[in-house]
Amino acid sequence: MPTAIITGGAVRLGKALACHLADRGWNLALSYNNSDPAEVVAHAQKAGVTCKTYPGDLSNTVFAEGLIGQVLADFTDVALLINCAANFIQENVERTSTQTLVDTMALNLMSPYLLMREYKKQVGQGMIVNILDERITKNIPTFAAYSVSKVALEHVTKLAAVEWGATVRVNAIAPGLILPPAGHGQEYLDKNKKNVPTQTHGDVADLTRALDYLIASPFVNGEILFVDGGDSKGRYSQQ
Ligand SMILES: NC(=O)c1ccc[n+]([C@@H]2O[C@H](COP(=O)([O-])OP(=O)(O)OC[C@H]3O[C@@H](n4cnc5c(N)ncnc54)[C@H](OP(=O)(O)O)[C@@H]3O)[C@@H](O)[C@H]2O)c1
Repeated sequence: MPTAIITGGAVRLGKALACHLADRGWNLALSYNNSDPAEVVAHAQKAGVTCKTYPGDLSNTVFAEGLIGQVLADFTDVALLINCAANFIQENVERTSTQTLVDTMALNLMSPYLLMREYKKQVGQGMIVNILDERITKNIPTFAAYSVSKVALEHVTKLAAVEWGATVRVNAIAPGLILPPAGHGQEYLDKNKKNVPTQTHGDVADLTRALDYLIASPFVNGEILFVDGGDSKGRYSQQ
């Protein structure tokens, strides 16, 4: 059974992707920081696959650079890296603190970049999927450093896809309105779905279907797969 490395794999979207892969027979190398990975570990056990956990702060470049090597000490058949961990800090350009800028670039951009580089060097085959955000197509300043980090990660995705396509395919998924941000519930989704062209919000199953498609499609490389009800293409309005 192949092994998938997934960052941010203990909660929310990362957890859903990890559990889905376990259900499809993938072993899991689960990277997390503060959350408890016990539910994913139990899910993997029930699915009959191996799940090993790698706690650590990915904004620490030493930890990020070393993670692939740690995983390869435990697994020999790594075939997928999913970069899902990210922060999401609401500060516009003027209010962005220096700490937010440093932390956001370190976690959301530098850690996936370093993981990709080490994956190419040390694993050398398979596929990388970066989790972006549909807002990469928009100029919304409210989460400024976050948006910059995701736009830059989109660019790295395409650069690496061109450079490595013969051995490592590199794609991304850009989700839209799927889970409410921390501190919000269903009311957030119900309010905001009115702007989405489909008039709906997404579900984690929309993301797992996108992941299945990328895994099953050997001629798809450098693609940014938007899973957003068309939100990136324009906002719905009733005139
Ligand atoms: N939710 C959505 O609808 C949505 C929409 C668009 C894009 N996205 C993207 O999808 C991905 C997952 O979103 P989410 O809403 O599920 O994420 P989330 O709830 O904000 O969780 C953030 C994840 O990042 C990890 N993380 C944070 N700081 C870390 C650090 N210093 N070192 C290592 N890991 C760290 C967290 O791990 P611990 O909890 O273990 O600390 C957690 O797994 C993100 O890349 C996000 O930008 C989500």
